[in-house]
Amino acid sequence: MRFLLTTSQGIEDLAKKEVGRLFKHKRISVAVEEKPFGVEGRLIVETEESFYIDEKGKKREFSPATFLNENSRLLHRVIVGIALSKFEGIESQEPERALKEIYNFVYSLPVEKYVKVKESFAVRPFRKGEHKFTSVDIAKTVGSAIYERLSKYGKPRVNLDHPSVIFRAELIDDVFFMGIDTTGDSSLHKRPWRVYDHPAHLKASIANAMIELAELDGGSVIDPMCGSGTILIELALRNYEGRIIGIEKYRKHLMGARMNALAAGVLDRVELIQGDATKLTQYVDSVDFVISNLPYGLKIGRKILIPKLYMDFFSELSKVLERRGVFLTTEKRAIENAFEENGFRILHHRVVGHGGLRVHLYVVE
Ligand SMILES: C[S@@+](CC[C@H](N)C(=O)[O-])C[C@H]1O[C@@H](n2cnc3c(N)ncnc32)[C@H](O)[C@@H]1O
Repeated sequence: MRFLLTTSQGIEDLAKKEVGRLFKHKRISVAVEEKPFGVEGRLIVETEESFYIDEKGKKREFSPATFLNENSRLLHRVIVGIALSKFEGIESQEPERALKEIYNFVYSLPVEKYVKVKESFAVRPFRKGEHKFTSVDIAKTVGSAIYERLSKYGKPRVNLDHPSVIFRAELIDDVFFMGIDTTGDSSLHKRPWRVYDHPAHLKASIANAMIELAELDGGSVIDPMCGSGTILIELALRNYEGRIIGIEKYRKHLMGARMNALAAGVLDRVELIQGDATKLTQYVDSVDFVISNLPYGLKIGRKILIPKLYMDFFSELSKVLERRGVFLTTEKRAIENAFEENGFRILHHRVVGHGGLRVHLYVVE
């Protein structure tokens, strides 16, 4: 079986490792390809059919999609692959011709294998790149091709709000992908524990990527600008056994972090302190690891404060950090200056897509 997996741009390698690890644990062989046709934030996974014996002794088919939806921390969606194709030149084509090509392609696919006539369906589109048509045009075109094809077997049912089967149709530059979205309308990075919505919260998938890159070994971990607590909560949910500490300047966000930790069932695992990260030594004498997505100062007027905030924070951090730090920011120059000035060495740097921005991720010691 073939699946398309989606995640954040720039962490495909970590998602690939996670998928490999999860299937290895189940002793199922799997082949994972990162960035098929060069498309960022996507992976293709091929697995063999496999079975397990349930508690009543019955032989059952193992569902890789359910398994990944339930166990992955880095993925956003798990889509059963129906077709993957390149439409050369589609970016410059006139809308009518391009959409006709998509229609004919989808009409040729055996969609009846995936949706019974009496089941309702909907198409969720995703489009990225330069095209002379919109994602709504894609949804309409793909939807009508599926409808026409299914009409050969009875009267198809469309339900845009609560469909039984969700087809996902993606056009990224000239790569077209179609499949059944087993994740549903809410992406996996939207965690059920998020009852307090911080305006600049980190995607849980990226929080987990940062945790992986920290290569933790059981030592204490701090997020000194923890906002609503995403990194700390995700770490606690991984059953991390070391100390987990969060500092946040604003009471409102700290209370939000508490509410989120409570909803996640890990409130007793995280120590949350209202405080100022530029006075870190007032709260801790030493920490092994720090993982944090720093304020970017995107609001007008706030940006000029960032270099000083970073400089003051890293100066304090240099007095307490024993091992490694993992940071995320848009402010490349400010953070690199603060690293240099305070004796931190960059071990790893990569660019990650977050909320439409390209953000810089660093591992330092
Ligand atoms: C980008 S947000 C972190 C979001 C967090 N990772 C989450 O998922 O909710 C940065 C946070 O740093 C906090 N902050 C800014 N300056 C601070 C300081 N000097 N000390 C502690 N926290 C600070 C902000 O209030 C904000 O909540």
